Amino acid sequence: MNPEELLHIIKSRRSVMPTQYSEESISAEELNKILESANWAPNHKRTEPWRFKVIEGDAKTRFAEFMVKIHLENTPIEAQSERKKAAVIEKCLLSDKVVLICMKTSHLLPEWEELAATSMAVQNMWLMCTSMGIGSYWSSPGAISRMKEFVELEENENCYGIFYMGRLKGELHESSRNPIENKVQFIR
Ligand SMILES: Cc1cc2nc3c(=O)[nH]c(=O)nc-3n(C[C@H](O)[C@H](O)[C@H](O)COP(=O)(O)O)c2cc1C
Repeated sequence: MNPEELLHIIKSRRSVMPTQYSEESISAEELNKILESANWAPNHKRTEPWRFKVIEGDAKTRFAEFMVKIHLENTPIEAQSERKKAAVIEKCLLSDKVVLICMKTSHLLPEWEELAATSMAVQNMWLMCTSMGIGSYWSSPGAISRMKEFVELEENENCYGIFYMGRLKGELHESSRNPIENKVQFIR
């Protein structure tokens, strides 16, 4: 791969919502490649702190029920609606795979370093998804702090996000960034 091709994948990676996923599934081979890419993220002291929980099949329905429960508990009754509840369920069921982004802190180094390594692992997955025509995005709702009510988490392990994934129905939308020149200072 030449640098232009890599830059193209990096720039075309988008946050793709489940309403934009098709019903076509992601194969086990593709999923393995995506997870394998995460495993090659750089990490200080080789603690490899990233942990992933893949929710698929019938477990997606259980996950949707859990997300609705948290949504209702966190939403004042006057702000609750069937439409919002349906949207929470839809997000889980329209995704082919839902991956919980977790991290097990080693306490060998500052926590931010392990969170940085975990974020890089997610970026690897996100780019791999882009190269495969799979839409995905990192969601960080309040429910992540209560994830141990849905799945067993080890000691020192926490959830930092939900990575929704599904095969893309259409094209990736374009986005923009402010110029890099505004964010770089050369010290000479
Ligand atoms: C740590 C992290 C948490 C995020 N949480 C959410 C979220 O809760 N809801 C959401 O819609 N997008 C979330 N995003 C996605 C961003 O909104 C998205 O990356 C940003 O709008 C830029 O769009 P792009 O990814 O298509 O370039 C999150 C992204 C990151 C890196």
